[in-house]
Amino acid sequence: MNFLIIGNGGREHAFAWKISQSSLVQKVFIAPGNAGTERENKCENINIDSEDISALRDFAIEKSIDLTIVGPEAPLVKGIVDEFEKNNLLILGPSKKASQIEGSKKFMKDFLKKNHIRTAEYEVFEDYEESKEYISKSKFPIVIKADGLAAGKGVTIAHSAEEAHKALDDAMQKKIFGPAGTKVVIEDFLQGEEASFIVLCDGKKTIPFASSQDHKARDNNDLGPNTGGMGAYSPAPIVTEEIHKQVMKKIIKPTIDGLKSEGITYKGFLYAGLMIKNSEISVLEFNCRFGDPETQPILMRMESDLAEICLLAAQGNLNEREISWTKDSALGVVIASKGYPFEYEKNKEINNLENENPRQKVFHAGTKTHEGQVLSNGGRVLCVTALGSTLLDSKNLAYQKVKTIDWKDGFYRDDIGDKAIKS
Ligand code: AMP
Ligand code: GLY
Repeated sequence: MNFLIIGNGGREHAFAWKISQSSLVQKVFIAPGNAGTERENKCENINIDSEDISALRDFAIEKSIDLTIVGPEAPLVKGIVDEFEKNNLLILGPSKKASQIEGSKKFMKDFLKKNHIRTAEYEVFEDYEESKEYISKSKFPIVIKADGLAAGKGVTIAHSAEEAHKALDDAMQKKIFGPAGTKVVIEDFLQGEEASFIVLCDGKKTIPFASSQDHKARDNNDLGPNTGGMGAYSPAPIVTEEIHKQVMKKIIKPTIDGLKSEGITYKGFLYAGLMIKNSEISVLEFNCRFGDPETQPILMRMESDLAEICLLAAQGNLNEREISWTKDSALGVVIASKGYPFEYEKNKEINNLENENPRQKVFHAGTKTHEGQVLSNGGRVLCVTALGSTLLDSKNLAYQKVKTIDWKDGFYRDDIGDKAIKS
């Protein structure tokens, strides 16, 4: 079978790496991919942008692609699944309507409220002056979110009125997120521990993937601005068996059922970003896709055939299928370009990327190949991931490899996994 994976991040490298291990798979195309995906067995990069839906559709028809898997949210929110399905192409991902769960924070929050799913109290504003007025009566910290897609950068946790005004000004006046910031959601700050809970839905059945935890802040001790994610590990100890049951019952099921009652069938990965405190579980966000960098440690722990699971889900045939996971832990450390999540330079040489140990894997994100040399090509550039018999072992092994990578322009957090290791 021929697979097409859409996207160019660490998540897509991990998907390409895992899918290509399946005996069902002859060839994996990645559009556009990165320097890591093109080095994997059976894999080939295709120079088509992940949002160029008509070119992707034409490519899938021309190459008789058996299954397309969509990594990032932008093509999903733009309706790639609807377009592929109109052309009888098998694709795994939610429809344009279903993707609003990530495409609009207002849609997501109103949906949660309507379906009695716990989330932070919130207000939605389209008027700049009204939003400022609301801030003048608020307690801090408070959370300000651009309504639309902002590549993981549209959320500000404001600790003072000044910070809140700057976030509102950036989104609504300076329009740094373009139309995505025309509306903003302002919500209460929740305390607790975060976890990422990702499930796969086939339109009828929903199966959970292993739990994980991301590190959204740029700097050690969760300081600095929010990023797309600076590292992750799996499993997340905070997601005990009991919490797992509660998440499926009180969050995932009512979400899938609630969408169904609005005429929306959810197919694809659904990611619930959770805040957990004393067994009270709130939804911080939904994503209509797998997480990045959560994918990298999660897939390192997966023993089942991911290609087969994705195929069954796209066909609506998951039935009672379960996924098997190694009991080992996995942990991934993101190495980003100095300056990220703001301005940074590209085209810097990176060396010593080879995996010496089968329990270590360097997943690429913002990289490209130029005349045989790997160069940096984005903000988050690598995610060095390792398996260990404990979380601490996986941390040690991941950082051991991180330290050997020869790239002067990169930086990383030193404390990925520490909260779970110390608790
Ligand atoms: P989001 O994209 O909505 O998940 O927000 C990005 C990150 O901001 C989350 O992973 C949290 O770390 C933080 N965050 C978002 N909303 C809240 C909230 N209401 N309370 C505390 N932290 C939040
Ligand atoms: N790691 C967070 C996300 O994928 O949105």
